[in-house]
Amino acid sequence: MTIIVETIATLRAQVQAWRAEGLKVALVPTMGALHDGHISLMRAALERADRCVVSIFVNPRQFAPTEDLDKYPRQLAQDLARLAAAGVHLAFTPGVDEVYPKGFATSIAVGGPSAGLETAFRPAFFDGVATVVAKLFIQVAPDLAVFGEKDYQQLCVVKKLCRDLDLPVDVLGSPTVRDAEGLAMSSRNAYLSPAELAIAQQLNKVLRKAASSLQAGAEEKATMADARKAILDAGFDTVDYVEARESLTLAPWQMNSDGRVLVAARLGKTRLIDNVEIAAS
Ligand code: PAF
Repeated sequence: MTIIVETIATLRAQVQAWRAEGLKVALVPTMGALHDGHISLMRAALERADRCVVSIFVNPRQFAPTEDLDKYPRQLAQDLARLAAAGVHLAFTPGVDEVYPKGFATSIAVGGPSAGLETAFRPAFFDGVATVVAKLFIQVAPDLAVFGEKDYQQLCVVKKLCRDLDLPVDVLGSPTVRDAEGLAMSSRNAYLSPAELAIAQQLNKVLRKAASSLQAGAEEKATMADARKAILDAGFDTVDYVEARESLTLAPWQMNSDGRVLVAARLGKTRLIDNVEIAAS
């Protein structure tokens, strides 16, 4: 049975009771609209901890006024059924006023890996993510937290947040779950029409080709230009970025080192992101 909790006080009381029993607690922060990718994060959490807390909160502070906050998919009853089936122990589903009470005036700004990529197109995004994740870490006080590698820059930002603020949470990245064609699972895939879905499924193929070219020693600038062209040729409307970065710091990628090719591209009303590994040679 999944305990459903809406207030920070009740959440804390429950987690403290588990701690008193010596149990290890994991947190999976989500914005709901749960899909198989989220369930894989919960499985990773349950393998490593005795109790798994999942937060469901569509965080207004990480949406720009022009973005899809109002139409972001919300399906709480369905999500709670999935959490129960996955064996999650507690769902934290606070309202906006519980997380950001009237007069809330604090924000966390993370540097380092937040530079460029998403930030160039969504300048306030990572401050919003860092603020809510810091609050969740303080509220839940988990031993570990699991984030998807699909949002790779977010994962690096959260790791940096913990290091810089000495938050005692072990942050684990979990591999991206994909459909049979390689499309990364995302709540925003729900916006895609069948024709757009077929185009979206090309994205990962382009990234994998770019990563293997870089691994084989191809010149970076030309490889990225080819990847951008291939994404547009597949039918995407625009490419926000397609770049190779170092895997830990997200600094510009150096030949022969571990890295990631990261992309954001727009298709109709949907913006998709993805990334693949560049293995060091
Ligand atoms: O990845 C997400 O769903 C969100 O950015 C997160 C980490 C739950 C913070 O709101």
